[in-house]
Formats: sequence, C-alpha cells, structure tokens
Amino acid sequence: MTFLNKYSKVAAMTQNPEKNWFGEKQVEAGEKTDLVRQVFDSVSSRYDIMNDLMSGGVHRHWKNHFVRKIRPRADQVFLDVAGGTGDIAFRIRQKAGPGARITVCDINPSMLEVGRDRAADKGWLDDFEWVTGNAEDLPFPDNSVDVYTIAFGLRNVTHIDTALAEAYRVLRPGGRFYCLEFSAVEDPFLARVYDAYSYRVIPQIGQIVAKDRESYQYLVESIRKFPDQKSLARRIAKVGFQNVYYENLTLGAAAVHQGLKA
Ligand SMILES: C[S@@+](CC[C@H](N)C(=O)[O-])C[C@H]1O[C@@H](n2cnc3c(N)ncnc32)[C@H](O)[C@@H]1O
Repeated sequence: MTFLNKYSKVAAMTQNPEKNWFGEKQVEAGEKTDLVRQVFDSVSSRYDIMNDLMSGGVHRHWKNHFVRKIRPRADQVFLDVAGGTGDIAFRIRQKAGPGARITVCDINPSMLEVGRDRAADKGWLDDFEWVTGNAEDLPFPDNSVDVYTIAFGLRNVTHIDTALAEAYRVLRPGGRFYCLEFSAVEDPFLARVYDAYSYRVIPQIGQIVAKDRESYQYLVESIRKFPDQKSLARRIAKVGFQNVYYENLTLGAAAVHQGLKA
C-alpha cells in the first residue's frame, strides 16, 4: 500500500473542521506537513525535469518575471522559503551579483541537497545558506530580512495564514513579500481546458517519467484547492502587509502577489 492510499483511508475517517487538504483528501491537522515532505522526497531527483515537462518550460518565464519584479540588489538580505532546488535563489544571485546574502529554506533536505549540487555546478557553492525549516515556524529572527520570496511553496504548507504571519515577522520594516503560485484561470472556458490538461496529462507524465503518478496527482489537486487571487490577497493583507496587490501570469494560471511590511 502506498503512503497516499494509506492516507486516503485516514482522510475518509477524518471529520476535521479545519479542513487540512492534502490534494483533494482531507487529513488530520499535522499530517499534511509529513505527507507533503514525502511527496517532495519522492520527486526531488526528477523535480527540475518534471517542471519543464509539465509546464512546457513556462515556469522558467514565470520565475524570470518574478525575480525581475523584485529588482534584487547586492546589499539586500534575501530569504527564499520553500526554495527547493534553488530556482528562485539562483535567479536572485544572478541579478544581484556577488555579495547578496541569500538563504534558501525548505522543509525537505533532499530538495536542498539537489539545490546545493546545482549551486556547486555553477561555482556558487558559498553564495547561499541552505537551511532546513518549516515556513510555518521559520528559524530566523524577527526583522532580519529585506526580501521574502516563496514560489510554488505556499500551497504546500498546512496553515497558510501561519506561514504568512511568519513572513511578516522575519521581514524588517520596509521589507517586501513576494509570492509566485499557481492560481485561478479567470476565463471559464480556458479554466476548463486547463483543468482537463492538468488532471489528465500531468499525472500521466508523472507516471511515465518519474514512475510516480500519485505525487503528481497531489500536485495537481493542490493547485485546485489553493485560494484564488483575490482571497489570497485578502489573507496577505490580514496578517499586516500593506500595498498588497497581485499580477496574473498566463491568464491567471499563476499569479505574483506582493506586500510591504511598513
Ligand atoms: C513545488 S516546490 C517549489 C520549489 C521552488 N520554490 C521552485 O519554485 O522551484 C515546493 C517546495 O515546498 C517545500 N515545502 C513544502 N512544505 C513546506 C513547508 N511547510 N515549509 C517549507 N518548505 C515546504 C517542498 O519541500 C518543496 O521543495
């Protein structure tokens, strides 16, 4: 029995008022974090190639755009949460140049391990701190970061509002919050096409390339469960951020949200 089958059973037994969704299954509070960690353990070695296959390379454009918006400078302190294999951190390093203090934090050591190897390949081994940690309980002091980024990570955390409050806590006054995440395609017809593509094609690619249909099924389901653009913007503002706004990418398939800690 795979761990996902096992947890479908747990989910069926659970009547959880907090609605902790693991994909489309409801699980007990606390379990989602472990399940998500297992998903990324299982996909880490093929994560980068799968990203390209699933998105037709579009994720690279989204990430480039995201980091361009940040306008990174070498005198800033960056924290990339759920930073995985380093895609955002590397782009920040490229734009900011040497000297920027960039920390990649992720709950999953195997994703960070792949990231560290990639940094070594680029000759950037000493340019990053790699820290294992949970977005909901960051191992960093208050008011210590200029720019907080989280890309395709927020939908995986168990308590989104707790992670947002942690982002607010670690940012210094004047610091900026940036989130890149899958979102809701706004045109109803295109939304149906996109839904069909993601439900039918992505788990198939997962099966063929990574021999792991279930993890990719989770990734697709987690996109559907994530709050839409406006709801997420409201929740970012609720933890204290000001000047909160978002930009749709590719008709809303993804969105960049940003906020300021005044
Ligand atoms: C889809 S990957 C995104 C990686 C990278 N940011 C990118 O854009 O390529 C999601 C990452 O979130 C991490 N993650 C999931 N839950 C987390 C949590 N509670 N705290 C920190 N990282 C988490 C996973 O381990 C995984 O590396």
